Amino acid sequence: MNTTAAHVPVMPDRVRAILAPALGEPGAVLVDATLGRAGHTRALLSDHQDLTVIGIDADESAISESRQLLAAELNRVRLVQATYDQITTILADLGYDSVQGVLFDLGVSSPQLDDPGRGFSYAQDAALDMRMDRSRELTAAEVVSTYPPDRLARVLRDYGEERFARRIADAIVRERSREPITSTLRLADIVRNAIPAAARRTGGNPAKRTFQALRIEVNDELGSLRRAVPAALSAIAVGGRIVVLSYHSLEDRIVKRAFSERSTDTTPQGLPVSLPGSRPQFRLLTSGAERPADAELTANPRAASARLRAAERVAQGKHPRDLAAA
Ligand SMILES: C[S@@+](CC[C@H](N)C(=O)[O-])C[C@H]1O[C@@H](n2cnc3c(N)ncnc32)[C@H](O)[C@@H]1O
Repeated sequence: MNTTAAHVPVMPDRVRAILAPALGEPGAVLVDATLGRAGHTRALLSDHQDLTVIGIDADESAISESRQLLAAELNRVRLVQATYDQITTILADLGYDSVQGVLFDLGVSSPQLDDPGRGFSYAQDAALDMRMDRSRELTAAEVVSTYPPDRLARVLRDYGEERFARRIADAIVRERSREPITSTLRLADIVRNAIPAAARRTGGNPAKRTFQALRIEVNDELGSLRRAVPAALSAIAVGGRIVVLSYHSLEDRIVKRAFSERSTDTTPQGLPVSLPGSRPQFRLLTSGAERPADAELTANPRAASARLRAAERVAQGKHPRDLAAA
């Protein structure tokens, strides 16, 4: 398998346009919290000659491939293999108090999906792995072979929004007692046979939601995101900007809530003026979540579920009236 396989960055022009005012500052620093194959990072480094990028990825191959892709820019790049919820420690270790930009482009990269050895895809046979960080212990095979039925059903329902979660969990438990479930295609078959025949004919591959749920569980994706977004917001300097690209409603909900908490005035109701310490720290740069344009979806179908949200840090205690005018 060619591990230098490309990843087409999603909504690249929008990401560049939103981050441009913040990254144009002399000495600006961007945290690319999901480096992948450095698609966004390469574009941003070329836009801003004075920019330094701290590139984080949990996946060792993403870091090593990006090191090659960024060979000409390594003097402006710091690469760290870690999960993004460690952003506060990473910045402290590198000696930064704050940064001008943060980018999260969540989920799986094309090379991860396309590499059968990673077990992320229900379209090709592989060992059921799904770890972003292969030094961790929990794999998808471990989840399907050891979780009790109730816990399995909860994972499928909560992380896959799978309405047949109970039936699928029961089928997994039945099948694993006959023979261990270790491969992606066997799991995909079990899911297909567990759901009602009518449901098999609609909504794409029936295994999609189960695979999403297992990936989220294996990598603690939502827990990690819940810790990471507030930490990233705290690391942004005044005038700095954050962009998050999410790929399903569970991720988007976490981002929306974290942005909303920091962009809302928390002055207790009934006071005639808002209190400086309670004023919003951020202003939203997107109205709701933005979606890719049709032309991008034609060229890159993997962008289909993308939702982009962005926000900018404002001067402490700025009055909401001034933010609206900004
Ligand atoms: C969609 S790709 C990013 C692609 C990148 N923007 C590009 O243009 O090449 C998402 C990346 O995030 C990484 N990732 C997922 N969860 C992570 C986490 N909790 N911490 C750090 N990296 C993570 C994955 O390994 C993957 O490489």
